[in-house]
Amino acid sequence: MSKTIAILTGGGDCPGLNAVIRGVVRSAVGRHGWRVIGIEDGFEGLVGTPRWRELDLTAVRGILPRGGTIIGTSNRGNPFAYPVEVDGKIALTDISDQVLESFHQLGADVLIAVGGDGTLKIAQGLFEKGLPVIGVPKTIDNDLQATDVTFGYRTAVAIVTEALDRLHTTAESHHRVMLVEVMGRDAGWIALESGIAGSADAILIPEIPFSLADLCQTIEKRAASGSRFSIVVVAEGAFAADGEKSLLKSAGDNLGVERLGGIGQQVGTALADRLELETRVVTLGHLQRGGSPTPYDRILASRFGVKAVELIDQQRFGEMVALKGRDVIGVAIASAVARLNRVDPADELVTTARHLGIMVSRIEK
Ligand code: F6P
Repeated sequence: MSKTIAILTGGGDCPGLNAVIRGVVRSAVGRHGWRVIGIEDGFEGLVGTPRWRELDLTAVRGILPRGGTIIGTSNRGNPFAYPVEVDGKIALTDISDQVLESFHQLGADVLIAVGGDGTLKIAQGLFEKGLPVIGVPKTIDNDLQATDVTFGYRTAVAIVTEALDRLHTTAESHHRVMLVEVMGRDAGWIALESGIAGSADAILIPEIPFSLADLCQTIEKRAASGSRFSIVVVAEGAFAADGEKSLLKSAGDNLGVERLGGIGQQVGTALADRLELETRVVTLGHLQRGGSPTPYDRILASRFGVKAVELIDQQRFGEMVALKGRDVIGVAIASAVARLNRVDPADELVTTARHLGIMVSRIEK
């Protein structure tokens, strides 16, 4: 039987979103003869009159290597907490019934929600209200449970690794300490893996509160042994054992997540006060999310798109596609959003980094 699939991409963009869209369209339209429409700008496109576009085979031509998302995305538009003006004041209001009404106006049978923790929680909420939903996990942060990895993550790690390679040469020439703040929210995956791949001297991750004294000792020891430069990777969610997370002033967005940033500069200033060496801070920011996905992410995102269509064919609503070992499978969306996937301080990657001589948040006693 013919079906109409609506797809949206929500939350922060990441490399590989277009590969998912292409995978869905090629499989649904090309193989099953179904119809696919794209809702614009995430759930925001379902607030009020729906905003959408037809996604036929021509619409997805040439988008596999393109970063971003051709249907747009948004960190706003949470239907369960939407800012509505009431008596001159903004109140977060549940407008999910109205969003469901907009969805039904489209005449679509099922929604594919491609997103991270925030977007998938909304998808789960709408599923519990009766909407047939399939989830696809995306985020450069790799902080979602129930999948071995999210697409976009490996591209971010590649971008940071290249930046670390470049920063090494200038740090060494000027005998400087370079602090590189990277994204990842409350998960230290990007910092940890790019720090190992890019040969950092210290990596500060949110899962292990760091010691400034240990960091100074590590850098001074290197200088004493003749390496008068150091590379320190700082996850944006890292904090000192006696400190707090660094939040940007405009904390929080409509998907219910706080905005982190600034810890790199804070640590840089503290080091400059304590060490003889010159210090510089680089915040890589949204560079980590932009541009073309790596081949790994193109393949993973394509597999996720194709699997999402297969789950629809099998009517397995409320499930999310996930990578488990070599297989792409379906798992309950609820199991993916129950808690975040963060680095276990006892993880083999942490031990490996330490055995390589990299300080991970503290000196191992
Ligand atoms: O979740 C992806 C992410 O890039 C985080 O690593 C980062 O903290 C956040 O989004 C930045 O969000 P925004 O694009 O709203 O600045």
